[in-house]
Amino acid sequence: MKDMCVNSELLADARETLRRPQKALSPKWFYDRRGSELFEEITELPEYYPTRTEAAILKENAARLAGLVPRGGALVELGSGASVKTRTLLGAGEHFGAYVPIDISEDFLLSTADDLRARYPGLAIRPVVGDFTGSVNLPDDVITLSKIGFFPGSTIGNLDPLEAVALLARARAWPAVEGFILGADLVKPAPDLIAAYDDAAGVTAAFNLNVLNRLNDEAQANFDLSEFRHEARWCEDPARIEMHLVSERAQTVRLGEDVITFREGESIHTESCRKYTAETLEALAAAAGWRVEEMLTDDAARFAVAVLRPDAG
Ligand code: SAH
Ligand code: AVI
Repeated sequence: MKDMCVNSELLADARETLRRPQKALSPKWFYDRRGSELFEEITELPEYYPTRTEAAILKENAARLAGLVPRGGALVELGSGASVKTRTLLGAGEHFGAYVPIDISEDFLLSTADDLRARYPGLAIRPVVGDFTGSVNLPDDVITLSKIGFFPGSTIGNLDPLEAVALLARARAWPAVEGFILGADLVKPAPDLIAAYDDAAGVTAAFNLNVLNRLNDEAQANFDLSEFRHEARWCEDPARIEMHLVSERAQTVRLGEDVITFREGESIHTESCRKYTAETLEALAAAAGWRVEEMLTDDAARFAVAVLRPDAG
């Protein structure tokens, strides 16, 4: 029965990345409905400071940030998830013409869009199911509108630097783009970061392990989840947390037609969560044709929300 609903893109990608010397899975595969729900649980954890810190920055600056969108223009959000923080901007943005949430987690995106339609009946909500690591087609009725991009959550940190620059450059090339609001987590002491990615309640572990469930359900795999454990590692240079799934013992796992062999202690690298400074963030933006107009942070400088404008030069 399962063969009838193989996710061929997931299977092909996992076959390639699980053959590498450092086995890996793209973090984009975390987000089936369950993964999206687990991420929302993460955002409520006491150890996971990024969401509430960024939400407070957005709230404090809501009128100004919403004011970046010209009257009748569009707010275009990448990796919108449950669009929780976005509601602060939508609430302050009665003049918006459209909101375009873009996400790979289809069910979750579409049900979020329904909720938003009920909450903001005057606003055109135009969800797009897409993968922001490639080009995403914007809806026809939005293309010509003046637009502001929005990429919160430090999701940019999950991309390697070349992918991050490419994504920002694609946004820079959107027709009539006037700016981009980018949320990014800042470098801080390792213990705070490790705790944020290895919480006491084990929600991040469940989120990480869920990708193996997904391979079992959608890519003809037979991972035994009890034979893998979650690990969050701090890496200094460049500053990042890496999430891994570590094999508890030597074992083999089926994946489609392949057999994947694990040594005891061998890991699958599932996510990098890069941490920035004002300087590294500015350099990233500049490499993609943006200049930083404003860098908003909280009092403890834990998180930054950068307002980017197209760099004319
Ligand atoms: N913006 C929200 C959610 C962040 S979680 C917040 O700040 O809290 C990351 C979101 O990006 C998830 O909703 C996930 O489904 C989405 N996502 C991850 N990789 C993606 C990709 N390659 N293309 C599109 N969406 C992606
Ligand atoms: C979505 N992304 C920015 C989160 C992060 O912090 O890198 C995903 C996450 N991974 C573990 N916890 C949260």
